[in-house]
Amino acid sequence: MEWNAKKYNTTHDFVFKYGAGLLELLPKEPKKVLDIGCGTGALTNQIAELGHEVTGIDQSINMINQAKESYPDLSFLQEDILNPSDQIRLYDVAFSNAVFHWIPDQDLLLKNISEHLNVNGQLICEFGAVGNVQMIREAFGRELKALGVSFEEPFCFTSVEGYRFLLKKNHFEVVEILEYERPTPLKGGKYGLREWMEQFYAAELGELSIEQKEQVFVNMEQELAPRLWKKDHWEADYRRLKIKASKTR
Ligand code: BEZ
Repeated sequence: MEWNAKKYNTTHDFVFKYGAGLLELLPKEPKKVLDIGCGTGALTNQIAELGHEVTGIDQSINMINQAKESYPDLSFLQEDILNPSDQIRLYDVAFSNAVFHWIPDQDLLLKNISEHLNVNGQLICEFGAVGNVQMIREAFGRELKALGVSFEEPFCFTSVEGYRFLLKKNHFEVVEILEYERPTPLKGGKYGLREWMEQFYAAELGELSIEQKEQVFVNMEQELAPRLWKKDHWEADYRRLKIKASKTR
């Protein structure tokens, strides 16, 4: 999927604004950090401002171009962590915010991260936990089913137990793992839910006609309003996993 980097930077800036809390888990002394799925580079820049030597990587060329334009002094590479080139070397910290749930093969992801970390290196990451945006996902699934459109969930939202197992298998020891609810206000007033859908379900919505899409939005807004409409904005039912883990060997 190609990303709309401008929208990500404005309407959906909550993605990296919430990620700022994750920065507190970084070591205090300067380290070599790999920021995986850096998007438009806002958090990569904050990591650099904390004194670390950071490289931001993202699969999306739109995101990397925007990141390079915004932060020309920083290092950004278009790279897929599932198939890294030899530009990806060894790091002290692998950092990632709101990215891992896009990656179906979590085992390969952790294997590759582990291979590019020094011993005692740290993985610091946050992503969607099991049950993340469940009300929205279920409502969307029902709408597509009613239209006879097949829907394969594009996200991988993992449980604490599942992740502990995968971390151990890939030579990580858990320092901290936290699962929590994070109700997230969406920008755009009454259009907030559809704008969020347009960003995160772009591929699925692209399969629909304009009329079908409008009907899906109207139906979802009606169904979800009693639980997710908060007077003047939509609030998405986010659930997160926050992890700090150390590579053992
Ligand atoms: C998330 O960051 O939790 C998320 C991203 C895309 C779709 C759903 C949730």
